[in-house]
Amino acid sequence: MQAKFSSESLAVLTDVVLPGETNPLNNLFGGELLARMDRAASIAARRHSRRITVTASVNHVAFNRAIPLGSVVTVEAKVSRSFKSSMEIYIDVWTEDRESGIRTKANEAIYTFVAVDDTGRPVEVPEIIPQTDEEKLRYDAALRRKQLSLVLAGKMKPDEATELKALFTS
Ligand SMILES: CC(C)(COP(=O)(O)OP(=O)(O)OC[C@H]1O[C@@H](n2cnc3c(N)ncnc32)[C@H](O)[C@@H]1OP(=O)(O)O)[C@@H](O)C(=O)NCCC(=O)NCCS
Repeated sequence: MQAKFSSESLAVLTDVVLPGETNPLNNLFGGELLARMDRAASIAARRHSRRITVTASVNHVAFNRAIPLGSVVTVEAKVSRSFKSSMEIYIDVWTEDRESGIRTKANEAIYTFVAVDDTGRPVEVPEIIPQTDEEKLRYDAALRRKQLSLVLAGKMKPDEATELKALFTS
C-alpha cells in the first residue's frame, strides 16, 4: 500500500458561531466544538484511507480559549500518523479577528479513527510520510499517545507500552 503525505489528508471546516450553539456565557458550547472537530477529523481519516472510518477514541482536548458568539471558527484536521488500521488525527482550531483577519489558535485536539470494511471490521491503511517539522514532531509522539490511549482503555498492559515508559525513565 502506497504511503501518503500527511498534508494529503488535510480537512478544513470554517463556520460561524450561531446563538443556538453557545453556553450561558455566550461562548461556543464545548460539545458543539467536539462535533465540528469530529466531522473534520472524519474527513481527514477518510481522505487518507479512502475507507469507511469510525471514531475510536478522543485522546486529548484542550479548550484553551473561549470562542465568543459570532466568531468565525476554522477547524483544521490532518492525519499525523497511521498504524495498522488506526489513524491519529491532529486538530487545530483557529478564530479570526473580524477587522484584521489575524488568526489566533483557540483549541486543539487529538482523535483516533479506525478504517473499517462494510461489516465494521478494521482494515489496513497507508503509512504516513510527515514533511514539515511540526508534522515530524506529531508523528514521533503519536506512538506514545496511542500506547497511553490503549493503556487507559484497558487494551494494553502498561508493561507493554515501551515507548511511553521510556518518556519517564530516560
Ligand atoms: C474502533 C473499533 C473499530 C475497534 O475495533 P476492535 O475490535 O477493538 O479492533 P482492534 O482491537 O483490532 O483495534 C483496531 C485498531 O484500533 C485501535 N484502537 C482500539 N481502541 C483504541 C483506543 N481506545 N485508542 C487508540 N486506538 C485504539 C487498535 O490499537 C487498533 O489499531 P491498529 O490496527 O492500528 O494497531 C470498534 O471498537 C468500534 O467499531 N467502535 C465503535 C466506533 C463508533 O461507533 N464510533 C462512533 C462513536 S459512537
